[in-house]
Amino acid sequence: MLKDCSCGELNKGHVGTSVNLAGWVDRRRDHGGLTFIDLRDSEGIVQVVFNPKVTESYHQITSEVRNEYVIQVTGEVAIRPPGTENTKLATGEIEVIARSVKILNTSKTPPFYINEDIEVDESLRLKYRYLDLRRARMQEILVLRHQVVKFIRDFLNERGFIEVETPILIKSTPEGARDYLVPSRIHPGKFYALPQSPQQIKQLLMVAGVGKYYQIAKCFRDEDTRADRQPEFTQLDLEISFVEEEDILNLMEKMFTSMVEILKPEMRLIKPFPRLSYADAMESYGIDRPDLRFGLEISDLSDIAAGTDFSVFRSAIDQGGRVKGICAPGCGNYTRTQLDELNRLVRGWGAEGLLTISLGDSAGSLEDLTMEMIKSVATRFLTLEQILEMARRLDASAGDLLLIVAGKLELVSTVLGELRQEMGLRLELTDPDLLAFTFIVDFPLLAHDEKTGRFEPMHHPFTAPKDDDILLLDNAPEKVHGRHYDLVCNGLEIAGGSIRIHTPELQRKVFRLLGYTDEEMEELFGHMLEAFEYGAPPHGGIAPGIDRIVMLLAGEKTIREVIAFPKTQNAVDLTFSAPSPVSHQQLTELHLNIVEEQ
Ligand code: AMO
Repeated sequence: MLKDCSCGELNKGHVGTSVNLAGWVDRRRDHGGLTFIDLRDSEGIVQVVFNPKVTESYHQITSEVRNEYVIQVTGEVAIRPPGTENTKLATGEIEVIARSVKILNTSKTPPFYINEDIEVDESLRLKYRYLDLRRARMQEILVLRHQVVKFIRDFLNERGFIEVETPILIKSTPEGARDYLVPSRIHPGKFYALPQSPQQIKQLLMVAGVGKYYQIAKCFRDEDTRADRQPEFTQLDLEISFVEEEDILNLMEKMFTSMVEILKPEMRLIKPFPRLSYADAMESYGIDRPDLRFGLEISDLSDIAAGTDFSVFRSAIDQGGRVKGICAPGCGNYTRTQLDELNRLVRGWGAEGLLTISLGDSAGSLEDLTMEMIKSVATRFLTLEQILEMARRLDASAGDLLLIVAGKLELVSTVLGELRQEMGLRLELTDPDLLAFTFIVDFPLLAHDEKTGRFEPMHHPFTAPKDDDILLLDNAPEKVHGRHYDLVCNGLEIAGGSIRIHTPELQRKVFRLLGYTDEEMEELFGHMLEAFEYGAPPHGGIAPGIDRIVMLLAGEKTIREVIAFPKTQNAVDLTFSAPSPVSHQQLTELHLNIVEEQ
């Protein structure tokens, strides 16, 4: 190699030895007739001293070398003169006195500082991702991601899992999102699809007799990109035959607990992972992926509201809706402007408005409150006892702020779910060092789509209904629960999985409920239905998103930060400028014609 040790590994134990280093110029300073270069490689930084009396070709080097030049240095490790140690640097007690130096490559001035952790425009970072990744923070994240994947592989290998690679060119079947399609050159007019997940293939591996499968799998979904969503992402995909829910949930709890305790011991976990039914999560948090780092639970106030003279409450309830609220502790002194801002947010989420009730100041108890101490547009329509009853239901104290929304249940839940999250952030209740993992269980099997009038699977069409509910499939499919579970952490869905259907009869029945005709079933899913005819074992699995896990462990706000070469919000790869036009010849070979949009 062009080096015999790394910059970052040098310490006092190396003093007096001769070393050969190679790396990038992180920073250069000229001082007192000497030149100092902080030399950086993937393992850290060390200070190299260039002295005209000691270093060969000193002048040539020091006049030419700039930041990000690639150089090779031979020299002696020495203890730094007293008073010049750098406690911020791991190698700060020593330096290397250069005997000779060679420029291996030059560098243009980078478009942003590599050696400083400063905010840089994201498109610039993504265009020059290879420079962005040189930055210390990004190197740390790449290492963390590697450690997470290595941890997962070791953990599952020790437990008898085998990793199986599955194809990237598969058949387009409806799996929830839009497929990325790949035109076939050999079969004109036909397309492969990139897998949204290896769901069907891993089930076929179970039929094939693989007992415990996993894969660090690339998945592709042509859907809108968000902070926690990329068109191309990575799952830990796993499947086990002859399992039940408990086996999968216990395996996941053990895996994530050990992962955090080993890789991020400074982070805290809530153990054991709490479990919430889908219905309870929706009722108390308005969302099926609640952030359980804090309380601020939503409570139903409909019974109290029904007894008031407040028309907003009454009309919501008369129309079959609900009145629900949360309590923002200590926010009773919010100003008009602050309350208006909350109102605006709530309207943005689709509610007609937000009723705020400020419960005076924090002195005294709830029972000491008088109507004069309470501020709300609704005081005229509510009695003191009604307000206090709502406050007690919301576990409020004097000095708190009640935030109440009335309307259709679904809307009220969504809006209060968002508002709860917003207040959690504002009140700084979202401790970044706490990982509040939670399993969500007892999902409905199907969701009724009001627009199409059809049932859609809550998870995917291969999820088994609960045994006790199977008879309901014929008469009340909306009441059937699925054997589906999600793992949620800090408001993010980390993993989804289920026990699957493994008989062709039940699978056909569910496809029929989803509106597929017999012909469509055979055309789209015939391979699965046929495989189930050949002794398919009961099986189930789960798939945690690796990007989201690393994002949480790294304390980042988007998964773009933890993917080496991510796409932009607009699904563009700025490093390669993809997607891009292709040649006419390529299109002809693929039997494709581009039709300009009108
Ligand atoms: P599901 O669709 O719930 O289940 O996905 C599982 C997990 O994958 C991650 N994820 C994503 N991460 C980044 N960008 C995306 N666009 C994206 N979409 C999903 C999430 C999610 O929880 N085959 C089933 C799993 C199973 O049943 O075993 C599946 O893919 O962390």
